[in-house]
Amino acid sequence: MKRELVIVLDFGGQYNQLVARRVRESNVYCEIYSYRTDIETIKSKNPKGIILTGGPNSCYLEDSPTYSRELFELGIPVLGLCYGAQLMMHVLGGKVERAAVREYGKTDVMVDQSSKLFENVSEKTVCWMSHFDYISQVAPGFAITAHTADCPVAAAENADRNLYAIQFHPEVLHTQEGTKMLYNFVRGVCGCAGEWRMDSFVESSIQEIREKVGDGKVLLALSGGVDSSVAAALLSKAIGTQLTCVFVDHGLLRKDEGDEVEAIFGPRGNFDLNFVRVNAQQRYYDKLAGVTEPENKRKIIGEEFIRVFEEEAKKIGAVDFLAQGTIYPDVVESGLGGESAVIKSHHNVGGLPDFVDFKEIIEPLRDLFKDEVRKAGLELGLPAELVFRQPFPGPGLGVRIIGEVTAEKVRIVQDADAIYREEIAKAGMDQDINQYFAALTNMRSVGVMGDERTYDYAVALRAVKTVDFMTAEAAEIPFEVLQKVMSRIINEVKGVNRVFYDLTSKPPGTIEFE
Ligand code: XMP
Repeated sequence: MKRELVIVLDFGGQYNQLVARRVRESNVYCEIYSYRTDIETIKSKNPKGIILTGGPNSCYLEDSPTYSRELFELGIPVLGLCYGAQLMMHVLGGKVERAAVREYGKTDVMVDQSSKLFENVSEKTVCWMSHFDYISQVAPGFAITAHTADCPVAAAENADRNLYAIQFHPEVLHTQEGTKMLYNFVRGVCGCAGEWRMDSFVESSIQEIREKVGDGKVLLALSGGVDSSVAAALLSKAIGTQLTCVFVDHGLLRKDEGDEVEAIFGPRGNFDLNFVRVNAQQRYYDKLAGVTEPENKRKIIGEEFIRVFEEEAKKIGAVDFLAQGTIYPDVVESGLGGESAVIKSHHNVGGLPDFVDFKEIIEPLRDLFKDEVRKAGLELGLPAELVFRQPFPGPGLGVRIIGEVTAEKVRIVQDADAIYREEIAKAGMDQDINQYFAALTNMRSVGVMGDERTYDYAVALRAVKTVDFMTAEAAEIPFEVLQKVMSRIINEVKGVNRVFYDLTSKPPGTIEFE
């Protein structure tokens, strides 16, 4: 299927992935490229529209990111956002200057509703502004289509040439009608039909995978997380038992998780594939005995995973393809698309491709954002509990047990965590908190239970609200809920006599404990 494509040209702003996600919410496929991408490459992709993102620079300075005038002469609709809007004006002969005051925050914007961009948008609408520079004069041929009290040009356009510029950020949720504006651009101005839907993605991916794989063999490391599970489901629908999934139970999973993964993907599950479960729990506990330093623990867990996987791969023999659950943010964040620096430091399965005997990598989810991966998962018949699972780190409970990991400590943290999750769900809060879990501190203290003195561990409860997991705030959980969790943990989990709630935000804390 030939996809309609909109290109998001990244000028280094912080919301660039968000722009792409919002475009996709209008059922239009888009990809992010750096502003350094040359014009021939852009033309070769045959985009239906181009969106220039915001960015931290001033477009009139010598070394600032820019683009040649040719981009605006291709006959392809262009929408500039914030820096992108200023750049469009600057390159086409308008004027951009430093304002006396920065316009920042939610701002009333008065729009000209006869503009295609503002069709069905209220005449006065709240938008998110964040800029120092402003457009003091639009380029020749442009008309002003929106303004605010402080900003004479909040939007401008040359409708004949399909060039649109907006000073605010339609991609952030604070811009109340922003999604409508982006919809108006990609569907109305660019004329995209809106064929990017997860049901058609699943269907066309199945075809593509079949064509690519032929009668070859595919190997996938299945962690039970959302991405590798959706990849497994998709590959299974496409090629059935030509797929082998290796699931390593490292003994650091949440309570009953290994069995849950097996119930879905194992022989009694709903998917046609070869499922290999490796029960490597003891092997991990042996390796981790006496190790307390967090980075060492992480390293051992990662290396041991590779070793176990390698052994299983050897048993299976040479395969044609190694499948991975890479998703679009991984691609962008590893510096392959967009302008963002390499910020991803967490890898579930680092270095896998080096040691398995395979010919090619296959990454069926490479084009999808997380919310699209989830939708595809539901399309493929995966249970909602799995599809909407909160993030779980690759090293698992290993980073939620401070200090040495032992089987006994794993049991304690698994049981406490299961109670915590159950009570949060009962309180109807599981969708409001982005990540929550119990961790085991390495602290033991004196308590009293019945008439007995105890000397037991303290469990820490963590719950955070976050958008990007780079920063986070502790979630506000009603005291009664916390109390209930505390009392259940102390009564039901042997070895615990104290429960703490972690109030720390990130920074300075991290979300995980190690
Ligand atoms: P931190 O603890 O760095 O975590 O604030 C941020 C987010 O990343 C997850 N995390 C990991 N995910 N492998 C992963 O796949 C890892 O090694 C890892 N360490 C942390 C963490 O759960 C949180 O969502």
